[in-house]
Amino acid sequence: MTDQASTLRAQIDGLLRQYYENYYRKNLSLVDWRERIETRIDEERTFAEPNIRKVEKWMGVNFAGQRVLVVGAGTGAESVVLHQRGAEVHGIEPYDKAMQILALKAELYNIPPERFQQAAAEQIPHPDESFDFVYCYTVLEHVQDVEKTIDEMLRVCKTGGLVYIQTPEYRFPYEGHYKITRLPFSPRWLTALGLLLRGRSPAFLRTVNFVTAPQLNRIFFARNVLTLRIELNWLKMWAPVRGANKLPYWFTKTFGIGRDQYIFLRKLGAE
Ligand SMILES: C[S@@+](CC[C@H](N)C(=O)[O-])C[C@H]1O[C@@H](n2cnc3c(N)ncnc32)[C@H](O)[C@@H]1O
Repeated sequence: MTDQASTLRAQIDGLLRQYYENYYRKNLSLVDWRERIETRIDEERTFAEPNIRKVEKWMGVNFAGQRVLVVGAGTGAESVVLHQRGAEVHGIEPYDKAMQILALKAELYNIPPERFQQAAAEQIPHPDESFDFVYCYTVLEHVQDVEKTIDEMLRVCKTGGLVYIQTPEYRFPYEGHYKITRLPFSPRWLTALGLLLRGRSPAFLRTVNFVTAPQLNRIFFARNVLTLRIELNWLKMWAPVRGANKLPYWFTKTFGIGRDQYIFLRKLGAE
């Protein structure tokens, strides 16, 4: 690594530590916040790489030469990995502190810095039909307007292209940010009460959209898209530790509902 690259790396690591301490410790008061920060320092390998590999495997996607937009680019892990796959990566992200890290990662990984724009998903600063693939991972539950975001992602996606959405399923008895069990089908206020009773702040929870598959399907079914849902083998995932995972196992077995949603929207053209 050159001197300039190691200086950049050190700057990025420092900012990632601050960013994820704020998130895991201050916002979410997770007990294992220290370990979580350590995995985020190497987030390209520990987080983005396995997730992107799943998309390649499930959909037979080859990102090389594709124009890809990462919506809610965060601290850039997914953008870096997609860039390394040979994609022309662009990203939008509204949050200043994430933009600062994105700028440094662009420099470190030789991504043209103007490819990352400070913007919200409800108003994507790109023309119609710009991208082969729109990547939106754990972002839909954080936007201001879910429907507008979906419309914008479809607008900038090329006809025949794919929009990938990964988001929680809030009918499931789990809150993935706070890592807590919830009552099945319970409303947000009951989850907030559960946090208060555990002595944890529910402030971040107020910013989260409790998205569910039926709610999203109603939006998709009114658009010119083919909706492809990936259903993981949830029961097999819970089974080895069924003692500890009795509730999720029972819930999935009873209602056929998994913990997270993995959705691909294929944008259709005129018939
Ligand atoms: C949980 S993070 C996920 C980031 C990244 N995809 C990842 O998994 O590391 C959610 C991201 O969405 C961004 N975000 C929040 N509201 C947004 C909006 N309206 N439009 C676009 N991004 C938004 C946040 O700033 C944050 O970077």
